[in-house]
This record gives sequence, structure tokens and C-alpha cells, in this order.
Amino acid sequence: MADAPPPKESPRQKRITVPQFTAFKQAAQKITMVTAYDYPLARLVDEAGVEGVLVGDSMSMVVQGHENTLPVTLDEIIYHAEMVGRAIDRALVIVDMPFPSYHLGKHKAIENAGRILKKTRCQAVKLEGGADQAETIQALVSAGIPVMAHCGLRPQSVHQQGGYRVQRDENALLNDARAATEAGAFAVVLECVPSNIAKRITEHVEIPTIGIGAGPACDGQVLVLHDILGLTCDYVPRFVKAYADLKTEIPNAISRFRDEVRSGQFPAAEHGYK
Ligand code: KIV
Repeated sequence: MADAPPPKESPRQKRITVPQFTAFKQAAQKITMVTAYDYPLARLVDEAGVEGVLVGDSMSMVVQGHENTLPVTLDEIIYHAEMVGRAIDRALVIVDMPFPSYHLGKHKAIENAGRILKKTRCQAVKLEGGADQAETIQALVSAGIPVMAHCGLRPQSVHQQGGYRVQRDENALLNDARAATEAGAFAVVLECVPSNIAKRITEHVEIPTIGIGAGPACDGQVLVLHDILGLTCDYVPRFVKAYADLKTEIPNAISRFRDEVRSGQFPAAEHGYK
């Protein structure tokens, strides 16, 4: 009798873990992260082979059409993170805690982050803050919830920071990244930080720094999916590089469909049934 084939490894066992993610820094392996907000695009992002997928509160702007990230709710983030969680076989999936889901005390933060992990197949949460959020990060980590911190420009504090500005206070930035590390964060996003300051922070903390507008020395880079695909309709920040032009290609495809319907070219015989 032929040997039984080995059991097929479940794709769920192949996901990158939080400790692996942290180990990329020691191995000097650059980390790539991209946002995703729904099932089909999350599958494509995962197939492209990135290490991390972020269900970002940027969805408030790029999916929901709001002017900043403040309006998106915890329930909405969870709804989208469920779709992304179902799609991902390989990458580590991190979900943004929306404003103000972690500002109402440690217990509320654990309850909200716990809901994200219980409902979504996602593995970690991200929150904006460093020294000011150290206690919350510590409480979440003690509860077994991995935390990615987000320092530098904090879009949820857009009103307090007076707009989306480059953050240049080196001591404050270093202090934030150190406090997040000491509180147990497994990685830290640095947004809109001058490259030389991001380099020094990267050299000073053991956890990976993930830059967005923070130069090439960071241990990894993150971009918003819609920006990479050239789908962003409004303002595009300087740190974005578009690798496709879907803003042009999508209307072109739809216009061609419209033209073929009007001319009778679509549907052709091969699109019908006998
Ligand atoms: O919400 C988001 O997409 C983010 C990234 C830009 C880091 O926080």
C-alpha cells in the first residue's frame, strides 16, 4: 500500500508571528508593511509577500471619505479587520485602535483590543503614542495583546498638533520610542520624522522601527495601499511613491465596458449560455 501523503500544512500555521517580526531587526532584514481594508485586496497584498498588513484607521480617509482619521469607530475597524483577517495566510496582521478606544483607561483599552483580537484573526494592535501611552501599552502587553506603537506625527492628534507636520523634536521622539520599547511594544511606527532623527532612534531601540516619511534607515517601511496603487484622489504627501496608476486605469476599464455595451460588442457569444 502506498504511503499516505503527509498532512497538508494549514496555511494558518505559516503566518508570521510577533517574535519573528521583531527578529527581522536582529537579522537586518527589512520589513515591508502595507495597509488593507477588505478581503480581495488583502489577499493580493498577502500574495505579494509583505511581512505586515495593517488595518489602518487611514480607512477613515481612503475608504470612508472623511477628512481625517478621527471618525472611524471601533465597530467599523473590526468589521474591516474581519475581512482582512479572513484573507491573510502569511503576513502578520495589525489593527489600528481608533480614537478614542484606548484613551478611556487601561481596562477599557484591554476590553477594546480584546474585542479586536477575539473577532478578527488579527494578531496585534497599533496605537498612537509613546511615553504618554506607556501605561496602556504595558497593560495591553500584560494581557497578552501585542502592541505596535506609533510615534512622530500622530494623525489622531491632528487638531492638537495643528495639522500634519514633520515632527522634529529629537529628544521627545527618542523618549517616546524608548518608553514604548520599555513598556513592551514589539515595534514602533515613525511617521514624518526627519531621516537623521529616525536613524538615531533606529540605532537606539531594540524593536523594529517602521517608517512612513522617516527615511531609509528605519528597519521597515509602511505605506497606505491606496497611495501605492495611485488611487488617492486628494492630497498625496511627499513621502508617498505610487507604483501604479489605478486612478487612471480603473475609469479607463469602466469606460471601455460602457463603450462596448453601447456598441453591442459586449456581451459576445462566449459570454452567453446555450
Ligand atoms: O492608519 C494608517 O494607515 C497608519 C499608517 C499610515 C502607519 O497608521
